[in-house]
This record gives sequence, structure tokens and C-alpha cells, in this order.
Amino acid sequence: MKNKKYRWYKIADNENDLRFAENNLLQLVVAGKKICIAKGKELYACTAKCPHAGGIIADGFIDNSDVVTCPLHRYKFSLQNGRNISSEDYYLKTYPIQTTGKGVFIGIEETGLMSWLK
Ligand code: FES
Repeated sequence: MKNKKYRWYKIADNENDLRFAENNLLQLVVAGKKICIAKGKELYACTAKCPHAGGIIADGFIDNSDVVTCPLHRYKFSLQNGRNISSEDYYLKTYPIQTTGKGVFIGIEETGLMSWLK
């Protein structure tokens, strides 16, 4: 199993500073990547575009099971692991997110030739 290394990016001083829309979703740019933040039973982060045809995940909706539904064709994805649970065999990329006393952080995988040295 590949050992992933993350660089952690602060996105807010605390969870209350995140400006969610009524659907408990918001879109941010972190390290040049468009990322959707979801507020379910806990915070989640995933890629902003649906892997099916590029629907904007932040325009979708989440349910009580922390499943997000894409607004375009209604495919459903677990926010916990990105699995497509409506059987279309797509995968929504997710990112680790954590809140500490210093703020809310998203982990972006380090890539590139030198990342394994760190
Ligand atoms: S673009 Fe998301 S389900 Fe088609």
C-alpha cells in the first residue's frame, strides 16, 4: 500500500468561519485545486467536480448518511470514502480534513520527484 504524504493547508481559524450555503456545502480553492467542503455529521472534503461529467458538487445536497448527490444526474457518493453508492462505478476523490486548536486543515497529497524525501 502506498504511503501517502500530505501537506496540510489551513482553510479557516475554526469551523464556524466556514461559510456554508443552505445545503451545507461550499467550494474553496486550496493549493490551486477546487475543493468542496461538506458539513454532515462531521466535516468532509472532496474534489469540486463530479467524476461523471463535471457537475459542481457544491450545488448538490447531502443526506443524513453523509452521502452527497450530484446536482446534474443525481449520482450519489459517500463523503467518507468517495465511493459511488448509486452503482455507476465512479469514485469521488476525497481529502482528509481535520480541526485542531490552530484551525481547520485540508491534507493535499504531495506529488512530484522530491515529495518522498520529506
Ligand atoms: S455530472 Fe455528476 S452525476 Fe453526472
